[in-house]
Amino acid sequence: MKGSFYGMKVTQVSVVLIGFVCLAVLMLAWTKNSFTSSLTPGIPLSVKEVSGTKDVSRNKNSSKLAEEDIVSLVSSGDLESSSTEPSAKGEHTEYLTTSTVTQDCNFGKGKWVIDDTRPLYSGLGCKQWLSSMWACRMTQRTDFEYEKLRWQPRDCDMEEFTGPKFLRRMVNKTLAFVGDSLGRQQFQSIICMITGGDERPDVLDVGKEYGLVKARGAKRPDGWVYWFPSTNTTILYYWSASLCDLEPLNVSNPETDIAMHLDQPPAFLQRFLHKFDVLVLNTGHHWNSEKLKANRWIMYVGGVPNTNRKIAEIAGAKNFTLYNIVDWVNSQLPKYPGLKAFYRSISPRHFFNGDWNTGGTCDNTSPSSAGKEVIEDESTDTVAAGAVKGTGVKLLDITALSQLRDESHISRYSIKATPGVQDCLHWCLPGVPDTWNEILFAQI
Ligand SMILES: *[C@@H]1O[C@H](CO)[C@@H](O)[C@H](O)[C@H]1NC(C)=O
Ligand SMILES: *[C@@H]1O[C@H](CO)[C@@H](O)[C@H](O)[C@H]1NC(C)=O
Ligand SMILES: *[C@@H]1O[C@H](CO)[C@@H](O)[C@H](O)[C@H]1NC(C)=O
Ligand SMILES: *[C@@H]1O[C@H](CO)[C@@H](O)[C@H](O)[C@H]1NC(C)=O
Ligand SMILES: *[C@@H]1O[C@H](CO)[C@@H](O)[C@H](O)[C@H]1NC(C)=O
Repeated sequence: MKGSFYGMKVTQVSVVLIGFVCLAVLMLAWTKNSFTSSLTPGIPLSVKEVSGTKDVSRNKNSSKLAEEDIVSLVSSGDLESSSTEPSAKGEHTEYLTTSTVTQDCNFGKGKWVIDDTRPLYSGLGCKQWLSSMWACRMTQRTDFEYEKLRWQPRDCDMEEFTGPKFLRRMVNKTLAFVGDSLGRQQFQSIICMITGGDERPDVLDVGKEYGLVKARGAKRPDGWVYWFPSTNTTILYYWSASLCDLEPLNVSNPETDIAMHLDQPPAFLQRFLHKFDVLVLNTGHHWNSEKLKANRWIMYVGGVPNTNRKIAEIAGAKNFTLYNIVDWVNSQLPKYPGLKAFYRSISPRHFFNGDWNTGGTCDNTSPSSAGKEVIEDESTDTVAAGAVKGTGVKLLDITALSQLRDESHISRYSIKATPGVQDCLHWCLPGVPDTWNEILFAQI
């Protein structure tokens, strides 16, 4: 959270010096990255991967994609092309300046303020990307005060997000979200923010280039990839609820158990990390024994079933996995100096008067009734904060600020108005995940 991006955990005297060195490295990296990194699709897919043997979506019970899984648990973008190049160059300077200034800024500390210019897109639009189950404007919900809040960090200016600005900064670059359904919400949110919710026939679905096609019998692919031709910008989401590698133990048996290799990054990440310029990881809500059991996920460490009792506990397993994935990404950073890697802290749930399975609800409609300010310096997600500490992976700390927003979950609303179902985990869009993206934007 506090400038651990470049290892700034040293004495104050060396901080300045190291800052300069990092700036220089960064400048080199940026230049190098802009001209040499390859986004060109067409990494040859091995036969094994094409046939999807590692694709968990083949296995029905392990593949229930994120939101459905959890719901079942809870019962524009017009870029003046002529200006692309010069602006992109301008962004170099801007980026470096911003990153210097905000090096020590804690974006998670601040307050929610009412802002009538919000939201950044309409929940009645963005149909190209926004899942209708998350578009609360499409449901019976009638209160929308929650759309009018903006996050104001206390000690830093958060640059205003605009689609064209984002795309200019991301010329020839790829932003990847890898995580659970909350990561998918953040992914949909950023595309809606970039496009302002407008229809964009020019933006192409290029999932195939990443092997992300719907497997036969599957409800949906394991992820989505969209390409903005005007700036050659790619934005993708890959579903990895556990942030570790999942391997069916018997590929020819749909009922097979799945080895959950806690100490190995998801295969997708290993294969495509070199293509990413910005990576946002998250995990969290799938770490409970019921889910592991339902998914037939068996913990493996070192290639064999886990025998360590500390890791066998869910909290221990999650902690172990989180440290592992962060350490692995950190170990790759020297190879990909242009890569900016973030771990997004846990998104809070808000079930009141019960839990998801015991009638818990989140019916509040008044924004900020739980308070509107975060004053703590330290993240309330101590596991995530611990995992990134001392690494080049930065914490995108959204936990405490999102904790204040219990009124903006999907709640009891849905398109179908299924009675009794309460989703106090996912957020209405537009909504809180937009803020996560503004904070992300401020740091890339
Ligand atoms: C983007 O990539 C194209 C093709 O490789 C290159 O000509 C152009 O200079 C790049 N633009 C930037 C800003 O890096
Ligand atoms: C898009 O960007 C990648 C680098 O990320 C570059 O290799 C490729 O040539 C670019 N394509 C175009 C059409 O500019
Ligand atoms: C894998 O599953 C298939 C189909 O159920 C079964 O015939 C085969 O014996 C299994 N292989 C192993 C090694 O268990
Ligand atoms: C999936 O799980 C359900 C209940 O847990 C079970 O009835 C069903 O047979 C399973 N299906 C597959 C394909 O594993
Ligand atoms: C999490 O894992 C790290 C690294 O293995 C360890 O140092 C730490 O004590 C663990 N924390 C908890 C709460 O288990």
